[in-house]
Amino acid sequence: MIVTAIAAISENFAIGKDNDLIWDLPKDMRFFRDMTMGHHVIMGRMNFDSIPEKWRPLKGRPNLVVTRQLNYQADGAEVVNTIKDALDLCESAGEEEAFVIGGGQIYKIALDAGLLDKMYITHVHATFDADVFFPQFDPKKWTKKTLQEHEPDEKHAHGFTICEYTRIKPQGLSQRS
Ligand SMILES: NC(=O)c1ccc[n+]([C@@H]2O[C@H](COP(=O)([O-])OP(=O)(O)OC[C@H]3O[C@@H](n4cnc5c(N)ncnc54)[C@H](OP(=O)(O)O)[C@@H]3O)[C@@H](O)[C@H]2O)c1
Repeated sequence: MIVTAIAAISENFAIGKDNDLIWDLPKDMRFFRDMTMGHHVIMGRMNFDSIPEKWRPLKGRPNLVVTRQLNYQADGAEVVNTIKDALDLCESAGEEEAFVIGGGQIYKIALDAGLLDKMYITHVHATFDADVFFPQFDPKKWTKKTLQEHEPDEKHAHGFTICEYTRIKPQGLSQRS
């Protein structure tokens, strides 16, 4: 199983404010939907709470919500207390690509622990005032490939570029380290 993060980030790495998204980019939402459909999605409790009730759980994807709370209930989603437990659940379900879908705390835990094999990052070409940010990562440790480029248009206030980052594995190691 590989583990992939998927996020949309601004030039100053902003991803959210007031527990909500900062922009409305329908083509990026479509990309997110297409990439994650049919796969397990792992999210922080704040992110789950931020999804409007009519959209959650995200359809067609087993939803896993990470929380420290022992009695938290998330309708239609599985609740776990660590990302490790979430990944174990994905593995035992035979998942081939599990998606870490944020928010900021969960991205940081996954990145810092070296759990991510791949990242789909939508780079939004603007800076924003925000209270949640994507963690800094070392570009030297990732191979970057540009997948899509979009100019602003009537439905997209900002231009954006969707990139795939694949983690460069240390020589001689085939497992996560
Ligand atoms: N731009 C994007 O691509 C994108 C994607 C997703 C989300 N977002 C935005 O990100 C923001 C939410 O992110 P966030 O950083 O505030 O919250 P988050 O990462 O979604 O969730 C944080 C919660 O996860 C749980 N948690 C954190 N560390 C844990 C650990 N070590 N073990 C177990 N549980 C742990 C805690 O839940 P409890 O408090 O219940 O214990 C914590 O409050 C929103 O603004 C959202 O719109 C943006």
